[in-house]
Amino acid sequence: MSASYEDEWRARFGETTGVPQDAPEVPWLRQLLRRLTHRRYSDRPVAEPLLRLLLAGAVSASSKSDFQQATVIRVDERARRDRLAALVPDMPWIGKAPVFLVFCGDARRLERLGELRGHPADNGKLEGFFNATVDAALVLQSFILAAETAGLGCCPISVIRNHPDAVAEILDLPDKVFPLAGLCVGYPAAEGHISMRLPLEATLHTDCYDDSHLDDAVTAYDLRRDARYSLPREQQRQPEVFGYASLYGWSEDKARQATRPEGQDFPTYLRARGFTMD
Ligand SMILES: Cc1cc2nc3c(=O)[nH]c(=O)nc-3n(C[C@H](O)[C@H](O)[C@H](O)COP(=O)(O)O)c2cc1C
Repeated sequence: MSASYEDEWRARFGETTGVPQDAPEVPWLRQLLRRLTHRRYSDRPVAEPLLRLLLAGAVSASSKSDFQQATVIRVDERARRDRLAALVPDMPWIGKAPVFLVFCGDARRLERLGELRGHPADNGKLEGFFNATVDAALVLQSFILAAETAGLGCCPISVIRNHPDAVAEILDLPDKVFPLAGLCVGYPAAEGHISMRLPLEATLHTDCYDDSHLDDAVTAYDLRRDARYSLPREQQRQPEVFGYASLYGWSEDKARQATRPEGQDFPTYLRARGFTMD
């Protein structure tokens, strides 16, 4: 059976250019095209069997070399959660979400296996860090998609990496284990808004890399996004440095945001925790 994804395409990209015709009907793809982050949750608890099932689904993600270098920490204890939430007061959803998980890259477990089996190896080089990062990211995204499929809403929280030492202390993280992101989970309290994505002409290249049309693609994307939702003037970043823009599009917002790098303490944290990054 062939199907039209025009509505979902428009929701995701703000236009229907390039929407595939006569594609097969896959209901989950409709949901994927309409997925979104949720930051407000109802009081309805997430049943324990469902949560366990979702975690089992999450760790079913692909894993580099089958090394399985992700560890998830469920933060159930109120005092620990409150301490994590206090690190980021402008994101109250960290403390309020019915469930809070922390997805960690875990380069330690592989080293422990080496010790247990008498073949010690250093897993603190860039490759070890990178593999653990990718594994943890795949488990995180698998959890999110599984949870959304079950009607839940999620919000990843990478800002905890701006406070790596405090997070490690709160969660008793050992060397070679690092927080990738927290995750708020709960039943959504509001419908929310689909965040438009760049068109495939910008993010999908054929045969070789080619970003020669980036300027035009991004300018058109900015206009589409702005037509759906204009960022209010008071949300323009650093007007004291950059002034106020009459059209404050996504690209202006992200370019300004990137001038203020985050996670400055993270490299020091990683080196202190045994990652040489060689
Ligand atoms: C790795 C990662 C870290 C994120 N960290 C945060 C965060 O610290 N706080 C937050 O409110 N949202 C966070 N988000 C959510 C993004 O802001 C959101 O995914 C993005 O705006 C796109 O929106 P969408 O998921 O609704 O499409 C994070 C998302 C990812 C993938």
